[in-house]
Amino acid sequence: MFVEMKPYVGLIEAIKQRRAARTFKSDRITEAILQEILELSLQAPSGFNLQPWRFIVVTEQENKDQLQACAFNQRQVGEAPVVLICCGDRQAKQIENITSVIHLGEEAESMTDSYANYMRSSIPEFFTNHPSFETMEAWTNRHTMLAVAYMMLVAKSFGVDSCPMEGFVSAQVKEAFDIPEEVDICCLLALGYANEPFKQYGGRFPLNQVCFHESYGEPFGIH
Ligand SMILES: Cc1cc2nc3c(=O)[nH]c(=O)nc-3n(C[C@H](O)[C@H](O)[C@H](O)COP(=O)(O)O)c2cc1C
Repeated sequence: MFVEMKPYVGLIEAIKQRRAARTFKSDRITEAILQEILELSLQAPSGFNLQPWRFIVVTEQENKDQLQACAFNQRQVGEAPVVLICCGDRQAKQIENITSVIHLGEEAESMTDSYANYMRSSIPEFFTNHPSFETMEAWTNRHTMLAVAYMMLVAKSFGVDSCPMEGFVSAQVKEAFDIPEEVDICCLLALGYANEPFKQYGGRFPLNQVCFHESYGEPFGIH
């Protein structure tokens, strides 16, 4: 299914070594590696397997310059060989997409008639009531950012650095890149090879500050 390509670093090292790169070399990413990073990120999970993520792959300097102008002039946008505009399509909840997901499952020989019927009836109901999210934008972001997280780690495992960015003006990016109204921009992701010295680790809060036991606020500890 995927190109046989030995990662340069394993998952744990990729997680430890990944930093948000602020400046990139002009070195290009090979097409095979870029393709593999994109393909593997699409293995991210999504609710009902609806896969609402969409990515615009920007590589032309002229377009990156235009994107940089919409992104508070952040230098990594113009410098990185590849910048992705990571989007989520609110239309993924429509019956056409549900039908496509059913077909995917049929091709993979994992879809039963009863599950297909369940999807046809329960997904529209889920989006009418949407008990687990307030807005469709929250829903598109939830999914797209998971794929982006996959992408950053896969990229790092191939030696490719990244920088996720929320510093951009969505309306300007939408206009400049012909992004439809019903598509949300979740983040930009610069990909390439970071300039040295690489960004320093900024630290993380300890487990007992962010994990709770059984109910919110209750101290977590391994018992
Ligand atoms: C959703 C999101 C938005 C971010 N936006 C920006 C940004 O606009 N510009 C930037 O330079 N870094 C941005 N960052 C990178 C963070 O500053 C960085 O991840 C954080 O400081 C932790 O550093 P590390 O990723 O190197 O460990 C963003 C990160 C995330 C996850």
